[in-house]
Amino acid sequence: MKILGLESSCDETAAAVVENGTRVLSNVVASQIDIFAEYGGVIPEIAARSHLEAVLPVVDKALKDAGETLDTIDAIAVTHTPGLLGSLLVGTLTARTLALLHEKPLYAVHHLKSHVYANWIYTKYDIKFPVLALVISGGHTQILSMPSHNSFEIIGTTRDDAIGECFDKVAKILGFPYPGGPEISKHAGSGDPEKYPLPIPKVDGLDFSFSGLKTAVIRKAQSIANLPISYPSHDIKNHLTSGQKNDLAASFERTAVKILLEKLDTALSRQAYSSIVIAGGVSANSLLRKTLGTTYKNLPVYFPDPKFSGDNGAMVASAAFFEIKSGVHPTDPYSLSISPRSTIS
Ligand code: KG4
Ligand code: ZN
Repeated sequence: MKILGLESSCDETAAAVVENGTRVLSNVVASQIDIFAEYGGVIPEIAARSHLEAVLPVVDKALKDAGETLDTIDAIAVTHTPGLLGSLLVGTLTARTLALLHEKPLYAVHHLKSHVYANWIYTKYDIKFPVLALVISGGHTQILSMPSHNSFEIIGTTRDDAIGECFDKVAKILGFPYPGGPEISKHAGSGDPEKYPLPIPKVDGLDFSFSGLKTAVIRKAQSIANLPISYPSHDIKNHLTSGQKNDLAASFERTAVKILLEKLDTALSRQAYSSIVIAGGVSANSLLRKTLGTTYKNLPVYFPDPKFSGDNGAMVASAAFFEIKSGVHPTDPYSLSISPRSTIS
């Protein structure tokens, strides 16, 4: 079964054709990173306009690269929640229209489910259930218990910022461009992670909190630069040496990874799992990959191929395939609606 997957929930316009949920026949991603690097973050109205310009050429290229047409594929899948309202509208309206015109079944997929299913791409049918899934992205930080395909229970979530958002904000404070995650990693490589110890937030159970860590970096940076705590965070970067920035980046990255591991340990101590799956943009982080490795506490650990850790259409098609296998019915293209916020179910 060949599915065309469409993704436009944030700042990537993406389409892909995937066979049987695992074999990627094409994968096209038009990123708006260059536009938003200039602004230091995503501007929703600009994102929506850029999706509008990119969506049809991206779909076209994904079909051509796969050697398929809208008539030869079996179904269309699209992200309908959560995400930026205008961005989601462009993807879903495109998918609805194409599904109607070409009489194809349409599947509406939750974005976090897609991130999790990025791990099944490339014939990883052998991931054993129950799965403990850690979803770490720019908008979300959640621990999910996944007893079987297409079945999710949220057992931990962030009470404030998402981890990716925290990477982006800390990068901005240090004067690194958007998106901050890869920049923090790059600079951390030349820094000393022991240099500036940062506090691990005390949050009960499996929930996270990242806004305190961001504030701790600001306070540490102000004190290194001999600035008062009232000093505006956007200007601190001009008072730090590149060595201090690298050390702060390394100390922050190590603390963020420690927080994730602490919560994973708690989750593993509460329930028995057969595998660990890491998903979302932050799963590209090399320190996290190195720290967890391929086996953690005797359980196999899966990370998506780095090309599928950020937003892409292949993971949407993969998630839709496993939804179909689990008995989910197509959605009505006339009535499919979007939702900027919603929980995975
Ligand atoms: O999943 P994603 O592409 O979009 C959302 O669904 O939010 O995640 C984007 C987030 C950004 O915050 C970005 O800074 C972060 O993933 N990210 C990373 C790395 N690469 C991307 N964070 C840490 N280390 C990385 N290597
Ligand atoms: Zn995402």
